[in-house]
Amino acid sequence: MKILLTGGAGYIGSHTAVELAEAGYDVIIADNFCNSSPVVPERLEKITGKSFPFYEIDVADKNALRRVFDENEIDAAIHFAGYKAVGESVKVPLSYYRNNIDTTLSLLEVMAEYGCKNLVFSSSATVYGERAKLPYREDMETGPCASPYGWTKLFIEQIITDHTKADLDFSAVILRYFNPVGAYESGLIGEDPKDIPNNLMPYISRVAVGNLPCLNVFGNDYPTPDGTGVRDYIHVCDLAKGHVAALEFAAKNSGTEIFNLGAGKGISVLEMISAYEKACGHEIPYKIAPRREGDIAEFYADAKKAFEILGWKTERDVSEMCRDSWNWQSKNPNGYEE
Ligand code: WQD
Repeated sequence: MKILLTGGAGYIGSHTAVELAEAGYDVIIADNFCNSSPVVPERLEKITGKSFPFYEIDVADKNALRRVFDENEIDAAIHFAGYKAVGESVKVPLSYYRNNIDTTLSLLEVMAEYGCKNLVFSSSATVYGERAKLPYREDMETGPCASPYGWTKLFIEQIITDHTKADLDFSAVILRYFNPVGAYESGLIGEDPKDIPNNLMPYISRVAVGNLPCLNVFGNDYPTPDGTGVRDYIHVCDLAKGHVAALEFAAKNSGTEIFNLGAGKGISVLEMISAYEKACGHEIPYKIAPRREGDIAEFYADAKKAFEILGWKTERDVSEMCRDSWNWQSKNPNGYEE
């Protein structure tokens, strides 16, 4: 079976490409490399020994997408392509709405033209909004979202849900990611944000490798065990395996189904720092800084539904997340830039 990964050269997409190839699927990548590297497909070939044909296109461009579908018998699509920086989305909301929604509408419309009826969508725990009670459960109310980025994910979930109500043969699985971290064990692919990372793990990794001087811990006065923010971190390889399970579920069902992909427990910033120090073998310099606007004290998943229905759960712990992040960063101190 041929699976189209939009944004497949990105962090989650590339790790999912490996798991799909290892599960026997053929993978086609469509990516404009705006937040990923053209080096990735050849890294994927090195890891798996398989080829990863890729199309450097804007997924919002329907004619470009049509070319992909003309040249490949696509059985299903996993939609990763989209802007995803929370802070940036507050500064340029229109470009987030335009890009994230246009790419989705173009993909759904071209899939309909070619009779491709299976979709997995990359959503986010951020759709639960700030009022949600812990642990987050799929049947909970969603919103209000803390950023335009979050709203794009929630609007896209609605678009997909409405589409599957209109086309009863269409099958969609929406995956709400918690906090993906880590990298594939070979150290050939990993998280490589452009500019200064917003997220904790890539920031710690760059401090550990000496590219940044010190980590700012955004607040230690939260109502959490050690006062720092608590999140549900999930190893990116566990997350990728969740996509293979979701794809298999979509192929056997119709309608829309939503799953949390998380470990179901929280880890604090200070706990993550100490786990990373064990993994890299040296101290991570940090200082306590003011809280970051928009942050909440803690959130983590109720991960039961994915286990009960998909038979999927996380297998890697925080020490493996840090070990694999460090392995990637120390082998690629400047990310994919040679
Ligand atoms: C984690 C914790 C920070 C950086 C975001 C998006 C979410 C999803 C995952 C896409 C918090 C603290 C962070 C730093 C710090 N992305 N922190 N110093 O904000 O939970 O979630 O990424 O779907 O949508 O919102 O992740 O890694 O930015 O923060 O102290 O330099 O680390 O305060 O407690 P977050 P994060």
